Amino acid sequence: MERFEFHNPTKIVYGTLEASKMGQWLNGVAKSCLLVMGKGSARKSGAFDRVAGSLKEYGIEFKVLEGVKSNPVLSKVEEGIEVVKRGHLESVLALGGGSVMDTAKAIAAGALMEGANIWDVFLGKAEIKAALPIFTCPTLAASGSEMNGYMVITNEETGHKLATGSIHVYPSVSVLDPELTVTVPKDYTAYGGVDAVCHLMEPYFNGPAKYTPVQDALAESLMKTIMNETMACLKDPSSLDHRGAMMWGATLALNGLTKAGVGEHHFPVHLIEHAISAIFDVPHGAGLGALLPGWMRFFATKRPERLRKFAIQVMGVHPHGSDEEVIQEGIITFSGWLEKIGTPSRLKDLGIGKDSLSDIAHNASFQASIWGMDGVYSGDVIHTVLTMAY
Ligand code: NZQ
Ligand code: ZN
Repeated sequence: MERFEFHNPTKIVYGTLEASKMGQWLNGVAKSCLLVMGKGSARKSGAFDRVAGSLKEYGIEFKVLEGVKSNPVLSKVEEGIEVVKRGHLESVLALGGGSVMDTAKAIAAGALMEGANIWDVFLGKAEIKAALPIFTCPTLAASGSEMNGYMVITNEETGHKLATGSIHVYPSVSVLDPELTVTVPKDYTAYGGVDAVCHLMEPYFNGPAKYTPVQDALAESLMKTIMNETMACLKDPSSLDHRGAMMWGATLALNGLTKAGVGEHHFPVHLIEHAISAIFDVPHGAGLGALLPGWMRFFATKRPERLRKFAIQVMGVHPHGSDEEVIQEGIITFSGWLEKIGTPSRLKDLGIGKDSLSDIAHNASFQASIWGMDGVYSGDVIHTVLTMAY
């Protein structure tokens, strides 16, 4: 195991009907908030009524910013910063999926940045030194944004979808009420499962540390559980047991727990997927599903022992046989899961032409240079991965 510091300041409150008590967590912390939502699902599902009712009960004044789109954009963040400043709002509350939570985080930080633009943070040119208190009420099990300091925003002018992070944008309190997720349609239920599993895979495969039995055991069991619960939610969408298991699994998948101690590593599949979503506006989880089997075949040439372990421990492949046979069967079985839950398992499933691979590689190289990944993931290497995923 390598040296690590694990510090997660977010309080998680899990339970059915907990969204109707959201106001208690802002009470005494902030007298007002910006309530950020997407394009309508929170109103339609009744989630807005529950949360707004509770804010009123605790006398918390709120302004609504809605219309956040999937793959959220900088212009919406800037709109929200304006509303917060004009209304002297004291906190930001996200009621929605990862796109809404990330927008809320960027607004909370951007509202306190004098003389610099929040986009400078995504470019690695400025740092977040403080943020308004952030509260989240996730309505979709996927991103894990409810318990981490990451946020991903697309700059529509430059066409870049970039990720950044800061300790200041961890939510203070996130309320996980599984009832708010029963209306998630089948496609986004499946995309959420792929996203959560991929959050576990990135450190699991890419972490350099040689001996990580605790992290491996956690990641392997979470991957298996989330894969099973995704199928269970598709079969029984109104089950609070399965929806709740998916929520908690997705939250744990990217709250720092399984990556602590695996050593300095990157998120290559996310690096490339963000470029795909920036250019083609595909759902994040769909892009990941289309990339993963190809990336696994690429990565198996670098660290076969990790792919072998995944095949046996997670995909249940029989341990006898050469590395090649075991790894191949593991990737085929994983692709089978993607197909079973109805998500893309290769790039062509996204309707992307082979002539777009260079544009995607070029776009991804921009984030790679900011993340310091360009030594390993050069434009050519990214193009190779894309070709293997096609
Ligand atoms: O906009 P509305 O009407 O709310 O509809 C949304 C949207 O169309 C819908 N939805 C959400 N909750 C629903 C619902 N529909 C019915 N019932 C509900 N309860 O689902 C659609 C997708 O929502 P979105 O927020 O885009 O999905 P997700 O949660 O997967 O978030 C994706 C975003 O998260 C970022 C991705 O890059 C992407 O922009 N990520 C954030 C991370 C983080 N902060 O840690 C890490 C992730 O790797 C990811 O990159
Ligand atoms: Zn993700």
